[in-house]
Amino acid sequence: MDEHQQGRQDRERAAGNSRLIEDRQAGRNTAARPQAHRPSRNSGNGRRTAHRHRRYKRGKALYIALGIRAAFALIVLLLAVGAIRGITGMFRHHGQQQAEESTEEASSAEESAAPEETQNPNIVTSNGRQLDLTKPMVAVTFDDGPYASVGNQIMDTLAQCGGKATFFVVGNRAEKYTDELKRMASEGHEIGNHSYDHDEKLSKKDAKTIAWEFNSCDEEINKVAGVTPAVYRLPGGINSDTVRKTLTKPLISWSVDTEDWKTRNAQATVNAVVGHVRDGDIILMHELYQSTADACKTILPELVNEGYQLVTVSELIQYRSSGPLEQGVQYTDFHPKSGDAQAASSGTPTVDVDQETAGLAASAEESGSAAAPSGSSAAGSSAASSGGEDNTEN
Ligand code: NI
Repeated sequence: MDEHQQGRQDRERAAGNSRLIEDRQAGRNTAARPQAHRPSRNSGNGRRTAHRHRRYKRGKALYIALGIRAAFALIVLLLAVGAIRGITGMFRHHGQQQAEESTEEASSAEESAAPEETQNPNIVTSNGRQLDLTKPMVAVTFDDGPYASVGNQIMDTLAQCGGKATFFVVGNRAEKYTDELKRMASEGHEIGNHSYDHDEKLSKKDAKTIAWEFNSCDEEINKVAGVTPAVYRLPGGINSDTVRKTLTKPLISWSVDTEDWKTRNAQATVNAVVGHVRDGDIILMHELYQSTADACKTILPELVNEGYQLVTVSELIQYRSSGPLEQGVQYTDFHPKSGDAQAASSGTPTVDVDQETAGLAASAEESGSAAAPSGSSAAGSSAASSGGEDNTEN
């Protein structure tokens, strides 16, 4: 190879390189605009350029194909890993669920087995709280309402000390205090029936009138509060043969008379209760007086502090009565039988003061005349107390 040849080759190589560079640029341009830069077949170096270009394109296509395959493989791999993870996760989750379920089953099996084996059968859930049937309980009752300004205070106090009470309401007042009655029902208090008109001479009336008084009150309470009373309290606590034959629901009297209607004094009302209560008592108060609402702020927490559970009348009957109550009998209390605190009491009936024997004094409103202390033989003597309850307050 002489100098000329070498020089020509060098020039040609240099020219070739520059063409290659041009072609590379052309390749890029071709990629960007395929129609704009097709190498001309008629040009001198067109065939070589096209060949190089094809080679270049083939190389580039190869890289792209490889890249696509690699990306595809990566995607497949990722999907596979994800699927495996998902499946194993599913299995693991299923396994956990099964484990949890079997634990739940085991614990629920324990629970269902508990009443027989471990759980204390003397603990019951009633009206949203637990009661211990071995511990003392009393039923606090409020007559002659509803009367929102006093009743709501009493319910506030009951809520603070976790107690439930019974409100023996008068049917013809219900429409005026619908919100209060609804609150009684929603907070687990009992609404008892104290007749529609609170006619203190009701027991003297005929059976039809007596039945109408209590049925109408039942309907009125149901209409307003959505509950139907399960227990009745006679106006003035005055019974009669006609009443006994006519009314079929339990008749509830009382064993602790606060005489709050007479004293209208909070301290006197407190004194009538605190220190004078025993297990199974039914306490009588009235919903009409601010002094009663004030007294309750002391009485109710104090009873709870002394270990009494504040229950409704129906709860007292349910957990302390040994059998169905007798029709026409007024029950004053549900004291436990002596020497057997676990056994339910059958309830203590009053010796009723009939209209006939009470005579003129029968107008005494709930003066305690009809309520014989538990075990006492008669209570008619106190029926002579005069006065009567002021039931005009609204
Ligand atoms: Ni009354």
